[in-house]
Amino acid sequence: MSWREDAKKRVALQAVKHVKDDFVVGLGSGSTAAYAIQELGRLIKQDGLQVMGVPSSSQAMMLAVNAGIQLTTLDEHPTLDLAIDGADEVDKALNMIKGGGGALTREKIVASAAKQVVIVADEKKLVPKLGSTFKVPVEVLGFALATVSAGIKELGGKPVLREGKGKVGAVVTDNGNYIVDVDFGPIDSPEELNLGLKFIPGVIETGLFMNIADIVYLGKQDGVIKLER
Ligand code: 5RP
Repeated sequence: MSWREDAKKRVALQAVKHVKDDFVVGLGSGSTAAYAIQELGRLIKQDGLQVMGVPSSSQAMMLAVNAGIQLTTLDEHPTLDLAIDGADEVDKALNMIKGGGGALTREKIVASAAKQVVIVADEKKLVPKLGSTFKVPVEVLGFALATVSAGIKELGGKPVLREGKGKVGAVVTDNGNYIVDVDFGPIDSPEELNLGLKFIPGVIETGLFMNIADIVYLGKQDGVIKLER
């Protein structure tokens, strides 16, 4: 296993230590959150941990089913005790870019419903400014793709429709929408940009996650960095 993969696993295990009996947990998406889902499953089987999970994507749902985690919904549990998720970029203020796996809308809803949000990533995801290494994913209603793209250009972004791997054409999200990945370069005011994007009719959600993370564990080659809000 490469050091990055090992680091991802270590931070996932660290995050799962926040889970207590009878918690309802938001289950994040992506390869790092997947380690947390696996670990939760192990604790359920081996230690009798009692938890339920609300998955943030079809990927998380399938992983949770395979791990033996009882699933529930936001309708049944509109407030979650904890959410654990990954990130594509994190800054020192714990703001993030998410959506590399296309699950940004449900991830933002699930994380916003949680009393505490723990983010897990490797240290390469820590950036001085959001947008330095990763484009901003924006989920867009298909009907509005052209008008949203024009609106994004007016905000200074360069949108590119996300295309599938293993499928021709556009990626269709779990919500039946498209994703555009937008190059804004390093972003000076992510909150302002997030609001600007959300004002465009047809934008479902943005991958800019502000004031959502409470704790970020960043896996290093030789340890773990903990950032706290
Ligand atoms: C999916 C996400 C993921 O959390 C993010 O892409 C990080 O994934 P990974 O842990 O595989 O690097 O936002 O929409």
